[in-house]
Amino acid sequence: MNVAFLGMGRMGREMARHISNGGHRLTVWNRTPGRAGELVAAGAREAASVRDAVADADAIVLMLFDDDSARQVLDEVIAGAPAHTIVINATSIAPATGRELGQVAARAGLRYVEAPVVGTIGPARAGTLRVLVGANEQDAAAAEGLLSLFGTTRHVGGIGAATSLKTVVNLGLALTTAALGEALRLGSDLGVDRDLLRRELSGGALGFILGYKQAMLADNDFQPAAFTLDGLIKDLRIATGSARRPLPMATITLALAAEASDAGHGEDDFSSLAAYYTAT
Ligand SMILES: NC(=O)c1ccc[n+]([C@@H]2O[C@H](COP(=O)([O-])OP(=O)(O)OC[C@H]3O[C@@H](n4cnc5c(N)ncnc54)[C@H](OP(=O)(O)O)[C@@H]3O)[C@@H](O)[C@H]2O)c1
Repeated sequence: MNVAFLGMGRMGREMARHISNGGHRLTVWNRTPGRAGELVAAGAREAASVRDAVADADAIVLMLFDDDSARQVLDEVIAGAPAHTIVINATSIAPATGRELGQVAARAGLRYVEAPVVGTIGPARAGTLRVLVGANEQDAAAAEGLLSLFGTTRHVGGIGAATSLKTVVNLGLALTTAALGEALRLGSDLGVDRDLLRRELSGGALGFILGYKQAMLADNDFQPAAFTLDGLIKDLRIATGSARRPLPMATITLALAAEASDAGHGEDDFSSLAAYYTAT
């Protein structure tokens, strides 16, 4: 199969590798050229434009940053892709945008599958992501062979269902990170020994996020980022913008995260939010 993979960011580079390892012909494209060095060295073709990348594609994977980038790139895809090509959008976007892009793709004669992923760079590299699939039965089945290269797939419903679930999952990540920051701040105010505090928190409700980001928090060094704070802010905006009822904790976390980003942490790992909270 000819597969075009659009978006060679942190996740895209790792995920695209599984396409060629799976025996497919891989063409990659990125807005900023030259980010796919290892993939090109391993035999992938780097296209100079989206249209060039998708011209003879049987399937197209999008792994971009947000709603706007996915919308812009899909417009280019529509201008260049053969009819009935399957478009798999793995970008974490708003459910409403997912449904909109699904309709835009269908009107253009393309098939659209949303496939946001749970997991980060390590699982992307290992092919062990949790891939949430939103599409009709037929398109989900058609995408399964490619999606299963990225990890374990779960077809959760039509377009919008997978991006909804992903939005909720990342709300949990954001709130837990902020909660950890607040717990560390209170521990510091009360003069609790840092190691003792971390050990006790590790065994409790905040244990997952503390264990997951232990090294970065211990070193107070949030580079290289696995998932950026600006990425988390994007997802918090999706959550608050998608909710029917107010999400007060998300709103407060978003304000704090935006403050940390303005203070220069936007490209740091999202766990810098906990450290920023503790330090301020
Ligand atoms: N990192 C994680 O742990 C993780 C985990 C699960 C899901 N996700 C989601 O996966 C997606 C990608 O995340 P990532 O961490 O790989 O992000 P990233 O490293 O920041 O990569 C973003 C990609 O989007 C491209 N892009 C941004 N704006 C664009 C535009 N206007 N037009 C065309 N391309 C554009 C970037 O191109 P340039 O190189 O030119 O900037 C880059 O290829 C996001 O939706 C994120 O929420 C991330």
